[in-house]
Amino acid sequence: MQSKMLLYEELEQKVALITINRPDKLNALNYDLLRELESAMEQVEQGDIRVVVLTGSGTKAFVAGADLDEITSRSPLELWTFLRQGQKVLRLMEEMEKPVIAAVNGFALGGGFELALACPLRIAVENAYFSFPEVSLGLMPGFGGTQRFPKAVGKTLALEYLLAGSRLGAAEAHRIGLVNRVVPAGELLTKTLELAGQIASHSPAAVRLILQSVRGGCELTGECGELLEAALTALCSSTEDSREGLTAFKERRKPAFTGR
Ligand code: COA
Repeated sequence: MQSKMLLYEELEQKVALITINRPDKLNALNYDLLRELESAMEQVEQGDIRVVVLTGSGTKAFVAGADLDEITSRSPLELWTFLRQGQKVLRLMEEMEKPVIAAVNGFALGGGFELALACPLRIAVENAYFSFPEVSLGLMPGFGGTQRFPKAVGKTLALEYLLAGSRLGAAEAHRIGLVNRVVPAGELLTKTLELAGQIASHSPAAVRLILQSVRGGCELTGECGELLEAALTALCSSTEDSREGLTAFKERRKPAFTGR
């Protein structure tokens, strides 16, 4: 993949590692970077990658936010285009049929926090923190932060962080269920790739349908969610992967899943 601001690696077990690589600007998200991220995610979605890990370069910042230069130098319509591009790529990541794990290697501010929120799973280093500093700049989050954050932690808690711009440390983020794990800085990639590898060892078809069931169910009321679950479970039970999984279980061997 040709990219200036992203590093893309395909690792063992069909895990892709994408690193946002703009260290001189603390990995701040500009328009071109967002376009590159979109292309990378589309490539992953179409290929045989099973799990994506997204991280930032360096040890200080995961992402320091939307690029403030973009925000201050654009006309309202150009800013609209920038914001819609950010929303588009974050939605794409959220709706991918392959899990994306954010490996939060440092602070995740504004658009960086929103980027992490668009990843279905999050692992953070001990000294990482999250915040929405926009309010202190007379701005507001525009990559879905006012929408995803309340859904993730509840309206009251979300409003406190959105309105006060306070820092949410990794330990507290873990306590309120916003990150799956907190790990020492030196172990971030090992631990994240361990989880990615564990997911990648299972049936890609089942992983894909579980993701869809959880995602769809969160938007639905109880019974509709159950109907969705029943339909997807029936679909899942008819895949080659489910036949392989059950046969391998009977034959006491490791299954060889193909995602079909
Ligand atoms: N957009 C564009 N550039 C950014 C940026 C952003 N969101 N955040 C940091 N940078 C740039 C700085 O301008 C600086 O570039 P320069 O060396 O060309 O001047 C470089 O990254 C390093 O940042 P610096 O401020 O020197 O590092 P620091 O360690 O002193 O402070 C922060 C780090 C994150 C606290 C500080 O950079 C900051 O507050 N950034 C803005 C965060 C923000 O408000 N994000 C939400 C945007 S809506």
